[in-house]
Amino acid sequence: MPIPEQFLEELNARTDIVDIVSNYVTLTKKGNRYWGLCPFHSEKTPSFSVSPDRQMYYCFGCHKGGGAVQFTMELEGVSFPDAVGILAQRVGLQVPETKGDSDSRKRRERLYQLNRDTARWYHENLVQPEARHALNYFTDRGLSRRTITNFGLGYAWDEWDGLIKEMGKRGYTKQELLDAGLVVKNDKGRIYDRFRGRVMFPIIDLRGNVIGFGGRVLDNSTPKYLNSPDTIIFNKSKNLFALNLARKSKQGRIILTEGYMDTIALHQAGFDCAVASLGTSLTEDHARMIAQRTQEVVISYDSDSAGVNAAQRAIQLLNKTGIKVKVLKVTGAKDPDEFIKKYGPAAFQKLIDGSENHVEFRLLQVKNKYDLTADDQKVACIQELANVIARLPGAAEREVYGNRMAVDLGISADTMRREIDRSQKRQLRRGEKQQTRRVLQPVQMNQPEARALRYDNMRSGKAEEGVISLLMNDPDLLSQTAGLSPEDFTVPLFGRVYEQIWTRWSEGRPVSIHTLGQDLSGEEMNHLVSILQSPISQENREWAMQDYINIIQTESLKGIRRSDVDDGALMAFRDKKHMEDAT
Ligand code: CTP
Ligand code: MN
Repeated sequence: MPIPEQFLEELNARTDIVDIVSNYVTLTKKGNRYWGLCPFHSEKTPSFSVSPDRQMYYCFGCHKGGGAVQFTMELEGVSFPDAVGILAQRVGLQVPETKGDSDSRKRRERLYQLNRDTARWYHENLVQPEARHALNYFTDRGLSRRTITNFGLGYAWDEWDGLIKEMGKRGYTKQELLDAGLVVKNDKGRIYDRFRGRVMFPIIDLRGNVIGFGGRVLDNSTPKYLNSPDTIIFNKSKNLFALNLARKSKQGRIILTEGYMDTIALHQAGFDCAVASLGTSLTEDHARMIAQRTQEVVISYDSDSAGVNAAQRAIQLLNKTGIKVKVLKVTGAKDPDEFIKKYGPAAFQKLIDGSENHVEFRLLQVKNKYDLTADDQKVACIQELANVIARLPGAAEREVYGNRMAVDLGISADTMRREIDRSQKRQLRRGEKQQTRRVLQPVQMNQPEARALRYDNMRSGKAEEGVISLLMNDPDLLSQTAGLSPEDFTVPLFGRVYEQIWTRWSEGRPVSIHTLGQDLSGEEMNHLVSILQSPISQENREWAMQDYINIIQTESLKGIRRSDVDDGALMAFRDKKHMEDAT
């Protein structure tokens, strides 16, 4: 349920984006903007700008933009309503509750409660004499009573309706059990407990809510682990096991593992910064959550080939966040849990201290792929190594690793450097081609939400940008746009925004990105703010508006769907040019 716009306007009036951003970023005033290092990507020279007059931020490097609410959403990793809540609290406002809002909040609260009661019950089961084998399972795997309590580990009886009965007694409905993913419905419509005869691992979010469970069998049967499905309170790709504990760690890093037991074993051994992804591979959201909380991540995956592949993927995602990424080589054991048990915490600490940075890891991976005693394989290996090194951002890095690889493979440093140079030029050419393509197609089309940003007709699309930009600046110009209808827009996002501006303006309500915010996705907001970066000349606004409208209507009549390469090229320079204008 949307938050009433009047409230958003009130909040907006009491909030200064410069204040909000200053809590996180050091800003320096230049012209009519403030500049600082972007908190969303790593950079050495400031391309992050805040405009106090328009109450907007925009990064010319990573193209993220929005108002105070979007900034809070992005930085705290919270939803639109939660971000509004945070900002409201700051200025002492109470977010009004709409009916649907409090209904869905109540439903979520019930599920949290149900999960908490379930976790407690599983945990209490463990001390029953009939669950001795389950407790033994944990202690046999080396877990102390204290660890079992700290993590709230438990046991689910080997019964079809143990939980259904127990939670029924406490007043939870079958529908609530289904909604929480704790029970399963079969073809005949009968429901039964999802977790039976398994030791249980509760998954707890950053606010301390139990949001789901993992359950492991006690023998070798399959599936070894069973997890709660995604529910309205549980999203696997946005939660990490034990992050609620790890975020309080003082160890200055996060250790990323693959499994519940790895993470628990590490915590017990004193590495209280360990987390695990929940039976899924690492996602972009995970990477961002980690990067928001630490400057260094140590990937500590299983030593089998699946683990190595998963590490590669994780490295790529984590590298994008700009934090330091190290990869731990667990030798002599299949995973961190087994390693700690065999060699102890001190040995694990040594592994961390000597862990390879991701470049070394990657180069070693490449070398291991080839049989270096065969000449043709050796040549192929050198070329692949050169490709990897060519992609490193620093000249010193390229030189150091290039020289080292030359020594390893028994060729001259000079030859290696030439291979690297050649690879770099090749990649540069490829990159340029890709860039042109990207410009014509601002976003990937296979993402459903990105479809709204499609530029099918570049000429009309640029004119639509102009119209929206002028209107956001001065909605009174709408008086000029009679005859222009939302259907004339070829970029779906702009058609929608146009319609919304129109509605607000005709009802005498203010038009700003703050009130539009809750109807736009993050991508859409970034794009909208990016087009608002161009300075608007105050003299020729009416003329400009007329020109844009003419273009849109002509193109709409032509009804052609084409991409114009020249306009596309212009778009590539747009940000650069405006950056100069703006300073
Ligand atoms: N996993 C899963 N479903 C499975 C197997 C694994 O969801 N059928 C997830 C679990 O989150 C598990 C992680 O993948 O913790 C790692 O799996 P694996 O390496 O097989 O398990 P271990 O952590 O080594 O488990 P254990 O030591 O208990 O055998
Ligand atoms: Mn294991």
